[in-house]
Amino acid sequence: MNGFNAVESNVCGNGVATISETVLENVRTLVKLRLRSDCEIKLISEGVLKGQSGDKVYHVMRKNTIELLAVAKIFHKKDTFENECKAIEILKSLKEAQKLGASTHIENLATFPLESCFLMLQSPAAGKGLDDYLEYYFKTKKSKSDEFIGLMKATARAFAELHRNTISSQRACIDLYVNKIRSLLGEIPEVRKKFEEECSYLSSKDCSERINRLITRAEKDRRLGSIIHGDGHPGNIFANFQEGRWVITWIDTDSLYLTTNGNELKGHAPPERDYSYFLVHLRNIYLRSMLELAEGVDIHPKYHLLKCTFKKEYEMNQHHVVKSHKDLQAVRGLLASIIRSFKRPIMLGSHEFNHEWKIRQLTILKLEKIVKKY
Ligand SMILES: Nc1ncnc2c1ncn2[C@@H]1O[C@H](COP(=O)(O)OP(=O)(O)OP(=O)(O)O)[C@@H](O)[C@H]1O
Ligand SMILES: [Mg+2]
Repeated sequence: MNGFNAVESNVCGNGVATISETVLENVRTLVKLRLRSDCEIKLISEGVLKGQSGDKVYHVMRKNTIELLAVAKIFHKKDTFENECKAIEILKSLKEAQKLGASTHIENLATFPLESCFLMLQSPAAGKGLDDYLEYYFKTKKSKSDEFIGLMKATARAFAELHRNTISSQRACIDLYVNKIRSLLGEIPEVRKKFEEECSYLSSKDCSERINRLITRAEKDRRLGSIIHGDGHPGNIFANFQEGRWVITWIDTDSLYLTTNGNELKGHAPPERDYSYFLVHLRNIYLRSMLELAEGVDIHPKYHLLKCTFKKEYEMNQHHVVKSHKDLQAVRGLLASIIRSFKRPIMLGSHEFNHEWKIRQLTILKLEKIVKKY
C-alpha cells in the first residue's frame, strides 16, 4: 500500500463514478510524490451536501494524525476539471487585485491526467462547510445566535462582493454616445455648434466622470452579468473564525468559470441565482434538522433569524448593481432623447426648432439631476 491507508468503503454521490484500483494507486503515488511520503487519503462522503456530483474527493492527511495536507479531487469530465482550474485562477486574480476582501479561494497545488480522469490537488479550505455549522446551529440547544448571525453576515457580504465583479475586456464610456450623436448631426453646422457647446458641459470633468463611471459599471453588469459562484449551496462555502472575524472560502467552483463567459445566452449570470439557491438550501437544512429533532422543539425562529440576516446584509452590500441598472436606463433614455431632439429639427421650421431646443435643455437639466445623485 506504499505507506498509505486508503479508506474507500463509503458510497458517495448521485453519480456512477467509480475509480479503479489502478487509478487509486496512481493517486496515492502522485500524492506521495507531490506532498509527502507519510500521508493517507480518506474519501469524503459524510454529508448530504458533500460530493453529490459523483466525483470522488479525498482528504489527504498526514498519516496517523488529523493534519489535513490537501484535498484530492478526481474529475471524470474534462470540462468540469478545466472550469474548476480556470475559476480558481479567476478568484486568485480577483483577490490579488483586492476585489475580494471578505472571501478567499483555494489554491490549485497540482493537477495530473489519469486514466480517463483528472486529479487536482487543492489546498484545504480553512474551517468547515457552512452546512455543518448550520446543522449544528439548528440541532444544538446551546448554540449561540450571535456567532451564527456573524457567520450569515460574512457569507452575505462575500456573495455581494463576488457579484460586484465581472470579467470585462471592453469598457463602455460616454464617448460612445457622443460619437454617435456627432455622426447623426452630420453636416448641419448650426446644430453641430450648439451640440459642441452642450458637449463641453457633458464633458466637464466632474460630469463626464460620473457618467462614465455609471455607464461603465452598469454596462459591464448588463452585458456580462456578475461573476457568481453558480453552485453556492452551504456545502460549497467554507468558513473559519480567525482573528475575530469569519473568513469565507469558496470551494467547488467549476460553475463560476461559466458565468464569466461574455455570451449572454451561455454565460449571463444573474446574482439572484446564487442568492436564491443559497436560501433554498438554508431552508432545506432547517427542514431536515426539524424532522430529526424531537417533537415540540421549535427551531423556526432560528431559521427566520438567519434568513433575514442574510437577506438584509446581502441587499445592503449589493444594492448598487441593481441601482446602476436603473440609472443606466435613465441615462440612456435621456441621451436617446438628446439624439432625437437633434434629428428632428432637420424636418422642422425655426419656431419648432426653438421648441425642440428647449426640450433638449430640459433634458440636460434632468440628466444633470440624475448624475448629481452619484
Ligand atoms: N479545498 C477543499 N478544502 C476542504 N474541503 C474540501 C475542499 N474541496 C472539497 N472539500 C470537501 O469535499 C466535499 C466535496 O467536494 P466538492 O464540493 O468539490 O465536490 P462535488 O462532488 O462537486 O460536490 P457538489 O455536491 O457540491 O457538486 C465538500 O463538500 C467539502 O466538504
Ligand atoms: Mg460541493
